Amino acid sequence: MTSRTSTQVSHYHIQKSRRAKFLEDWRANHRTVVALEDVAMHESARGDRIGVYVGADGDRQTRTMDALAHEVDPGVTTTVHRHSWDVMVFVVAGNGWFEIDGERQPFGPGDAVHLPSWAWHRVGNDPDASSTVRYLTFSSQPMLETMGMAVLEDAGDAEVSTLPGRPPFSEHLDGDDPYARRVRRLSREQQARRSGRLHTDWDSLDLVNTPRGTRTTFLLDKAIGYQASGITMAMFEIGPGRSQSMHRHPGEAWLYVVEGSGHSYLGTEPEGGQEHPWKKGDLIVVDHFLWHQHLNDHPEQTAKVVRIHMFDSLLETMRALCDPLVLFEEPPDHIRDAQAGDPTTVDWPANDRPTWP
Ligand SMILES: [Fe+2]
Ligand SMILES: [Fe+2]
Repeated sequence: MTSRTSTQVSHYHIQKSRRAKFLEDWRANHRTVVALEDVAMHESARGDRIGVYVGADGDRQTRTMDALAHEVDPGVTTTVHRHSWDVMVFVVAGNGWFEIDGERQPFGPGDAVHLPSWAWHRVGNDPDASSTVRYLTFSSQPMLETMGMAVLEDAGDAEVSTLPGRPPFSEHLDGDDPYARRVRRLSREQQARRSGRLHTDWDSLDLVNTPRGTRTTFLLDKAIGYQASGITMAMFEIGPGRSQSMHRHPGEAWLYVVEGSGHSYLGTEPEGGQEHPWKKGDLIVVDHFLWHQHLNDHPEQTAKVVRIHMFDSLLETMRALCDPLVLFEEPPDHIRDAQAGDPTTVDWPANDRPTWP
């Protein structure tokens, strides 16, 4: 005789309601613009001030990336720490330095910096500096947390030379079996990941016209030598009264407004959508699969925005897993045809370093 354990609710039903709840919560979480004034800065245990644009520690849940603001006053050096995720930095104001595994990397306004996973790092602002350093960070921490791999190690004011290096790995194993091949493949991968570029100087940026009504440049991307977790940063500039053409793609694509003001349209077809105004210091959040377009409302000045998304890892994977679903779409013809945007007719200004506030 067999005995059976019967549960009131089947695995199927538990899973179904859990998935429904997850999506319900996520939809309640949708945002469009996080305004600068909605980001409260808090004194942190590291010695700087930290504010959350998007992230669990500011009660703004996210799945793949988070977005934080940091401020370091003159004379302050933060404590040193490291973590399993990596961080993309965009400097908003001030001149300071990052120390990455013991090596100093100076930076100025508009520069981009990569803090690799497991690299000890801290940031400093010299005592005779004239202004506070402010920078934004975009990290892969939430993505690693979904896999149970988000690890942080704080070392206080320890000398970096006394701390252990990055996790060791096996470099080589002879043989043509799957294990030996894995050892060599992962070794090559780690060597590449640990030798990527760390800094982009604003003065080296070269903005190039695109057919989308804007001009654009990479800030942090594998195309210019970075070895990051797939989060990329590019900057685009929208001509006065112009816009980027409408399109849609999966969520958690963000735009940080460096200069200028305008609005974004987000909506569905044919129902239509809403317009969301933005200004310098705001973060535009596209965290749903909606048609969207970013428009510069100023009649004379250009707008500069830094766009951040996890294209090279997560979105590439999603494209493969969802194929033949199209994840990057141009709009229907009647919308596309109505869009003007020849960037060659814009009188582009000199690309001066950003100012703050
Ligand atoms: Fe960090
Ligand atoms: Fe977009």
